Amino acid sequence: MARRLIVRKTGAFRGTIRPPSDKSLTHRAYMFAALSRRESDDFIPAVDGPGVVGGIQIPCPSTSIINYPLNGEDCESTLNCLVTLGAEVRRISATQVHITPPIRWVTEPVVLDCGNSGTTMRLLSGILAGIEGIDATIIGDESLSRRPMGRITKPLQEMGADITGDTAPVRIRGKALRAIQYQSPVASAQVKSAVLLAGLRTDGRTTVTEPALSRDHTERMFTALGIDLDTQENSISVNGGQQWNSFEFTVPGDISSAAFFMVASLLHPQSEVTFRELGVNPSRTGVLDLFAKMFPDDSVFELKDTHEELGEPVATVIIGAPKILPAFEIAGEMVPALIDEIPILAVLATQCHGTTVIRDAQELRVKETDRIAVVTKNLKQMGADITATDDGMIINGPTPLHGTTVDSSGDHRIGMSFAIAGTIATGETIIENVDSIRTSYPEFVRHLTELSGFVPEVIE
Ligand code: S3P
Repeated sequence: MARRLIVRKTGAFRGTIRPPSDKSLTHRAYMFAALSRRESDDFIPAVDGPGVVGGIQIPCPSTSIINYPLNGEDCESTLNCLVTLGAEVRRISATQVHITPPIRWVTEPVVLDCGNSGTTMRLLSGILAGIEGIDATIIGDESLSRRPMGRITKPLQEMGADITGDTAPVRIRGKALRAIQYQSPVASAQVKSAVLLAGLRTDGRTTVTEPALSRDHTERMFTALGIDLDTQENSISVNGGQQWNSFEFTVPGDISSAAFFMVASLLHPQSEVTFRELGVNPSRTGVLDLFAKMFPDDSVFELKDTHEELGEPVATVIIGAPKILPAFEIAGEMVPALIDEIPILAVLATQCHGTTVIRDAQELRVKETDRIAVVTKNLKQMGADITATDDGMIINGPTPLHGTTVDSSGDHRIGMSFAIAGTIATGETIIENVDSIRTSYPEFVRHLTELSGFVPEVIE
C-alpha cells in the first residue's frame, strides 16, 4: 500500500544539511567503475603514474571506490543490473561501495530490471549494445515502461546495434558497432551518454550534437578519467577504443534534491538553509542562475568552499529568504539546466508577483509522469491560478494555497513538490503515493523536520 504524507503550514526553514548525493553522478560512477580496466588487462604506466613504486610497474587496481553514493532506489537498480551482468559489488558501509568490473560479461540471457530509472535503462542500453555476447531484456516499472526508448534505440540501430523497443522492454544482443555522427532531436543527457558510451566500443569517431547543452556529467567524468573528448559548443566527439583505470569518487549532493528546500527557504520569511557539498556543475545550476536573475539586488544565495571532484564543481551553498518574490520566465536553453526542478519552481511561482511563464519544456511530458498535467491539476486543486500549455505552464500570482488531497502519480519530484506546497497552505495537505520519494531522496521527511521543526505524518 502506497504511503501518504500529511503536511501542515510551517514556519521558517533554518539549518544545514548535506543533501542526498547526486543521482546522475551515482549512476555514472557505478557504470563507469564496472567498465574500467581489470587488473589483468593493464599496467599503470612506468613513468609519471600514480602506481609507480620505486620505478617498478604495478598492475592497476581493478576496484573503484565510490564514497557517498545515493542509496535511493534508482541507483540501487543500476547496481543490481551491474551485478547481474557480472560486476563485483561490495557494500562496505552505507557511505562506501566498491565495484570491480566483470572478469567476463554474462553471456546467458538476462533480464535487467531498471525499476523507475530512465537513466539506468538508457545508459545501460548504450553500454550493452556493443558488448558481444550480451543477450539482455531490459525492463522497468509501469511508469518507465511508458517512457520513450526510441530516442536511444534509433541512434544505436544506426550504429549497427541489434536493439529493439520504442518502449520497454528493450531487447539487446550485443555486437560490433560503427561510429556515427548523430544529431539528437532532444537535449537529453541520457541520449547523449548512451551514444557516447556505445561510441567507445567502435573503431571510429562518434559525434553527438544536441539542440541545447544537456547536463555534461558524462563528458566531465570521461575527461577526468583520461578519455580524450572534443567538445565544440553542443557537439561532443569521442574516438572508440579508449579505456580507463579504476578510480575513487566522492559523490557530491544533488542540486535537484536541494531545490525543494531552496524553494522552501525562498517561500518562508526568516529562512536560511546551508547545503554542504552540493554539486554546482554549471549544466545543472539553472535554478541558481534563475534566482540570480529574479533577485538582482538582493543576494539570496552565496557559494563558498568551491572545489572539484572528478571534474565536477562542488560548493557549500547558502540560501536565504528574499524581501519580495517576482514572477519569472523559463525558456529556451535554460530549460535543460533546471528541467527536474520545474515542478517545485511551479509551486514557487504561485507565490510570485505577476505572471510566470514556463515554455520549451515539453520534455516534462515524458518524465516519470506527465509533469505538466500533474503539476497543473494539483496546483489548481490547491487554489492556484495556473494553465497548462503544450510545452509548459502559465501561472499568475500570488494566490494563497489551501490544503487538500493531491496525488503524486508515483512521481518522486511531484510528491516532494507538494510536500513543500503543503508548508505554505492553510489546513492539511495530504499527498498520496509518496513511496516513490525513496527513488531519489530517502531522507526527505527527516530533512523537512530538521529544517522546519515540523513532523509530517506518514501513513502506510
Ligand atoms: C538525467 C538526465 C535528464 C534528467 C534525469 C537524469 C541523467 O533526463 O531529467 O533526471 O542522469 O542523464 P534527460 O536526459 O532525458 O533529459
